Amino acid sequence: MMESGEGRDLVEEVRAASDIVGVVGAYVRLRKAGRSFKGLCPFHKEKTPSFMVNPERQSFHCFGCGKGGDVFRFLMEIEGVAFPEALRTLAQRAGVRLPERGDPRAREKRERLYALLDFAAGAFRSLYKGERGKRAREYARSRGFDEETEERFGFGFAPDGWRGLRDGAVRKGWSDEDLVRAGLAVPKEGGTPYDRFRNRLVFPIRNVGGRVIGFGGRILGDGEPKYLNSPETELFRKGEGLFGLWTTRGEIRGEGTAVLVEGYTDLISLWRGGVKNTVAPLGTAFTPEQARLLRNYADRAVLLFDGDEAGARAALRSLETLSAEGLQPAVAELPAGSDPDDFLRREGVEALRERINGATPVIPFLLERAYAGDREGGVRAIVQVLAAVRDEIRLGLLLQEAARLSGLNEDVLYRAVRRSRSESRDPSAEAVRLSPVRKKRVLEAERGIAYLGFEHPDLLPVIRRAVDPEGVEDLPARKLLKALYDLAERGEPPVPSLLTRTGVDRDFSRMRVESGEGEDPVPTLQDYIACVRQERIDKRVRELEKELRDAEARNDHDACAMLLTERRRLAEQKRRIAVALRGTDAVADRNAPERSEPTR
Ligand code: UTP
Ligand code: MN
Repeated sequence: MMESGEGRDLVEEVRAASDIVGVVGAYVRLRKAGRSFKGLCPFHKEKTPSFMVNPERQSFHCFGCGKGGDVFRFLMEIEGVAFPEALRTLAQRAGVRLPERGDPRAREKRERLYALLDFAAGAFRSLYKGERGKRAREYARSRGFDEETEERFGFGFAPDGWRGLRDGAVRKGWSDEDLVRAGLAVPKEGGTPYDRFRNRLVFPIRNVGGRVIGFGGRILGDGEPKYLNSPETELFRKGEGLFGLWTTRGEIRGEGTAVLVEGYTDLISLWRGGVKNTVAPLGTAFTPEQARLLRNYADRAVLLFDGDEAGARAALRSLETLSAEGLQPAVAELPAGSDPDDFLRREGVEALRERINGATPVIPFLLERAYAGDREGGVRAIVQVLAAVRDEIRLGLLLQEAARLSGLNEDVLYRAVRRSRSESRDPSAEAVRLSPVRKKRVLEAERGIAYLGFEHPDLLPVIRRAVDPEGVEDLPARKLLKALYDLAERGEPPVPSLLTRTGVDRDFSRMRVESGEGEDPVPTLQDYIACVRQERIDKRVRELEKELRDAEARNDHDACAMLLTERRRLAEQKRRIAVALRGTDAVADRNAPERSEPTR
């Protein structure tokens, strides 16, 4: 992974997205010392701190023992892991998607899509700057954007016409399938796909690593739909990324606070006005994944939502999501009918900053503002938010504040929080979770698969194609599978100590019996894989239902259509697996798992 050009790119992507202070801070108590941070060195015994972390250079160094390096080196040293593991951990933490390991074809395909999106961004950009982009430029100017801002956010123009981009890309060697997969073209029954973005001002949407993954397109002036976004693709996941983060992450880290706005143009307008620590979701409600991503950069989040009913509802929902992921949310209110962009243009940046700095923290907001006058409603909302807070210390502090402000006894509040927790009041989140019985079945299957891979290394290629370790929930099974894949990659046989080291050995004897010594392990393996795949599909379907509800609520027709197609595809997949399991279909032959797609 390291030696190829893409590999290095990826390393830089992860490095750029990782904050060394945050990473080290999880292991070492750091104190600010000038422009650096200081703490007790975790690599040798000491009483006075000589361990320094420098956020500007993104490096660490110990003046006592001499250890030092970048964020990767730190993780390798402290966790005793090799580089690939450190890379993987950090990528996950920063929300950077890693290409599937050991599958160069999948990686190549992905790179093709990235390159195509990059090409599209370039093409849109030149069109914007050229003759045909005049109206788009005028529109942008009318909204107060200047050249520097346009350059920074890569403003582009998608002209009218059906296949301009498509034809250009095909001439450069991309296929219609690539265009559709990248979300740039819309498939046409019995015809050639056509450009999705037409006659729109387009904003490239980048992931935290800075790569273009999709576009948002605004109509020039009035019309419907006002915004058209890329559909969900393998690179563009609306619930996972944040618009602007690539550009604003430095400012967010610097401030320790992120300002959340709802619209792309809000974010761009605020940037232009000098408020640069902002992010926006990608046209959907704010998700836990996005909150976790943000958590890598900020401690506090200020919600600056539209001053209307929808904005208020969105803010209420987001308060819980953000609190659950450990962010401290506060709400900056805007006058009815204005959004951050309007407000900034009408009242100026100082007035806007005042609103942001004077944002009301979550507890007083719920108690005094959100439910104006309805004390009981406010307290109930607080209980709901607190029930989502996992950190006990944070919870304790919030409880204290809630008790003080509401005049209610802290014990009473705490009991209500505990009850609310055990009732797990969010039915949609609950639906995504597995019932204990099914969960047990899946974990057993996962462990079974890992064990069979250990016992029968010749089955590993089959297992590898069917099971991505990242999707494996059982920790010992995941560890064992990863270790086995690593060994296989180096052409080495499994070593017996693996079972103990990964913790799979606790079930060793039972598994041995189950796999029936000397018997053909393939049918057992097939059952396990089918079980895991079915459960994955079920889980994805439950998530889909939730995404569908969100998409419907946002009136995002593109997303709805995409989600419905995916749901049909999953139902079909599941049916095929069931048929195979009953053995009434040719799919049930020995090689079935080889043909299946990797599970995620
Ligand atoms: P808004 O309508 O609040 O956007 O939608 P805005 O930023 O104020 O738009 P301008 O100022 O009129 O240009 C907020 C977000 O909701 C999504 C987009 O992501 C938008 O940024 N949206 C909105 C859509 O996806 N489709 C739409 O038709 C409208
Ligand atoms: Mn607006």
